[in-house]
Amino acid sequence: MAIERTISIIKPDAVSKNVIGKIYDRFESNGLKIVAAKMKHLTREEAEAFYAVHKDRPFFNDLVDFMVSGPVVVMVLEAKNREIMGATNPENAAEGTIRKDFANNTSENAVHGSDSLENAKIEIDFFFNPEEVYVRTIG
Ligand code: CMP
Repeated sequence: MAIERTISIIKPDAVSKNVIGKIYDRFESNGLKIVAAKMKHLTREEAEAFYAVHKDRPFFNDLVDFMVSGPVVVMVLEAKNREIMGATNPENAAEGTIRKDFANNTSENAVHGSDSLENAKIEIDFFFNPEEVYVRTIG
């Protein structure tokens, strides 16, 4: 069976709260493996391109402003992430999810995760060259 890979972005609100390690720990303690990771301060062009699917939504400009307000941490994870991340609006996120515990609101919501396997592939290719994504040979 093919390895299922997805992406997570720790957004500027969570980076500025200094909870990068706590969010890594949520993934690792739920059995996900980090196979690529980097910190990056997105340019406006990169943020607009990444969220192009939302370009006609009323929140698009605020979303881009927020995503370029500070560095993010982008990672590729093996296995599923959506349940650990929680609902987009932290008020609707289940207890114990990342957004329930670390998000401020729907806009500053701590993390981004791909919403499907097809989008995961597109988003991984957006941030990483193939040689930057590793095969975890031990463990
Ligand atoms: P994310 O998972 O990164 O995908 C799109 C982002 O748009 C979302 O998380 C939120 O940070 C942001 N956003 C802001 N307002 C809304 C909204 N009303 N509905 C959905 N997403 C929103």
